[in-house]
Amino acid sequence: MSIEEAKRLAAFKAVDTFIQDNTIIGVGSGSTIVYAVERLAELKRTKNLNVVCVPTSFQARQLILSNDLKLGDLEQYPKLNCTIDGADEVDKNLVLIKGGGGCLLQEKIIAGYSEKLIIVADYNKDSQHLGDNYKKGIPIEVLPLAYKPIQMRIQEKYRGSATLRMSKMKAGPVITDNGNLILDWVFPTSETFNWDEVNKTIKMMPGVIETGLFINMAHAVFFGTKDGSVKEI
Ligand code: 5RP
Repeated sequence: MSIEEAKRLAAFKAVDTFIQDNTIIGVGSGSTIVYAVERLAELKRTKNLNVVCVPTSFQARQLILSNDLKLGDLEQYPKLNCTIDGADEVDKNLVLIKGGGGCLLQEKIIAGYSEKLIIVADYNKDSQHLGDNYKKGIPIEVLPLAYKPIQMRIQEKYRGSATLRMSKMKAGPVITDNGNLILDWVFPTSETFNWDEVNKTIKMMPGVIETGLFINMAHAVFFGTKDGSVKEI
């Protein structure tokens, strides 16, 4: 089973399990979510499924529109039934790293106002501990003017390296949909972290907008596996 097939299986299963008619859905970002939207569009065509989709990024908005699904926002729909999103890594306690695509702020807001957050991912994201499989670290969205002191404070307090995310051509830093920068904090995997404490401490640093640590948020996770089955936690 290829990774793309595994993503697709997980996404289809999650939609079929959690999405009913008249659901207000948060639509996550990344490559796995594309398959979830594909399934929503298919159900709309074949079964007349009627849902409203609230995007977590520019990418998600485009995806919703290009699949001819109904677009909403938090002003119209301040309470969502269910958000479906991807993740970069999921540990055994369902602590997530998100933000590989730089959309963590809106993803956390939309998930935070949803009754349920459902994660869809391939087998590479399934870890015992954060950092076992995902080596790019925890993304932290920061206000541009404060990136340097935040970078230094994180490194002094927790060690590892907090690197400013650069665009592919290294022409400049990646700018998020909200006009901010991203630090990717690669933490030392030799240490055991209390992720709740880390998350709260980093969030309290002036200039930090949000972290890519999602704790006690995921209601269920669907992993597409190598053998073609879906593992649900
Ligand atoms: C974007 C995210 C994505 O959900 C995460 O990076 C997973 O992406 P993919 O489905 O492409 O592996 O958090 O900010």
